[in-house]
Amino acid sequence: MAKARTIHYCAACGYESPKWLGQCPACQAWNSFAEHKETPASGHRASAGSKTGGDRPRRLSDVGTDEAVRWATGSAELDRVLGGGLVRGSLTLLGGDPGIGKSTLALQMAAFLGDRKVWYVSGEESASQIRQRAERLGIDAANVWVTPQTEVTALAALLEAEPPDLLLIDSIQTVYRGDLEPLPGSVTQIRESAAVFQRLAKQRGITTVLIGHVTKDGDLAGPRVLEHMVDTVVQFDGDGRTYRLLRSLKNRFGASGEIGVFRMETDGLKDVSQPSDVFLADYDGSVSGTALSVVLEGTRPIVIEVQALVVPATYGTPQRTATGYDAARVRMLLAVLEQRVKLAYANRDVFVNVAGGLKTTDTALDLAVCMALASAWLDRPLPAGRVFVGEVGLGGEIRAVPLLERRLAEAARAGYHDGSTPASARIKDLPALVRSSFPT
Ligand code: TYD
Ligand code: MG
Repeated sequence: MAKARTIHYCAACGYESPKWLGQCPACQAWNSFAEHKETPASGHRASAGSKTGGDRPRRLSDVGTDEAVRWATGSAELDRVLGGGLVRGSLTLLGGDPGIGKSTLALQMAAFLGDRKVWYVSGEESASQIRQRAERLGIDAANVWVTPQTEVTALAALLEAEPPDLLLIDSIQTVYRGDLEPLPGSVTQIRESAAVFQRLAKQRGITTVLIGHVTKDGDLAGPRVLEHMVDTVVQFDGDGRTYRLLRSLKNRFGASGEIGVFRMETDGLKDVSQPSDVFLADYDGSVSGTALSVVLEGTRPIVIEVQALVVPATYGTPQRTATGYDAARVRMLLAVLEQRVKLAYANRDVFVNVAGGLKTTDTALDLAVCMALASAWLDRPLPAGRVFVGEVGLGGEIRAVPLLERRLAEAARAGYHDGSTPASARIKDLPALVRSSFPT
């Protein structure tokens, strides 16, 4: 059970302080302080801002929908991931590995919102480093104000006094609350700091983006609780070498799982509006072990290439390695190929890779994985340009997948169709499909 502690806050404006103050440093009101007992885990207290009118219940039908105004970010890809732009007053967590482009994306977006005032809180870089980045991006960013203040209570007072439209915290791991014991970056500091930004976003309508690092195992660093506190979580994934893939893991204002694709160039992140084309740039249909498929990422169909390699196992237990697709699923598909198609993988090492660094959980990729594995085993190429879309069952049956028509339309747009419906629509089982794809 978490211990309750007392929070003092200004009843006029909501400013929080660890101790009682005669005059509020944010709104200058006298004798406005009240106290509230809070358990650290709850992070909440009854809203006090009578000035803002935010505490009185309102009839839902009286709530204006202008409260969900969205701002275009200057990038159609980012807009898509956010569900159609950045929602005013929302709290967003932007995660990703170091060096993948979080600060760049944030600054590009900030500069695009030219007539809105943006505060950039930087605990990672100096103001002049941020200026250098802006120059590199070719933006003058006159609407962006930089502060090195990373103590959250002091920052909150500044923000209350002069609320910006957009607040960028780069990063949530480098801000801290001076009244709390642990070091910056600790779970408590991250959570408690985020709670202050959450309150500012909701009470003051300050649209906020918290930038955060990702840990080695792929979680957003710090507490998972951060993911529950924010409205939207977007994260860079992918290998970061070729393309930068941005995915929404949670979105209160749109579909989660939506994906945006960018290319990092010498002057910033550029939208990749037709990802199928770039994922297939190196596709060579004349080699064995490669198959095309169309996966659905969020609402977007993307044509991708699966590669497989099957080689004799040198010693010990044969290896099964999968990159970009679930390894357990690949083992299951190998068992189906063994049992139903009678291809023996027992003494072979097997490697499966989704080209281009995409990670997908769309089981419509099953069929392409099986066909790439069969092609690799036989060392014979598949008919070039054929697209394989379907889930594969344990009986070797090919199952229907959602939105087949949209997937095929995208394949056709990218120039891949053999003039027919995919094999999966005509042939219902994997052994028959393998036989017809590799005639003797
Ligand atoms: P950055 O946005 O600093 O990453 P993060 O904030 O996620 O750590 O991006 C850093 C990388 O991007 C760095 O390796 C330099 C490269 N970069 C470019 O290639 N082009 C550019 O225009 C910019 C600004 C950065
Ligand atoms: Mg950065």
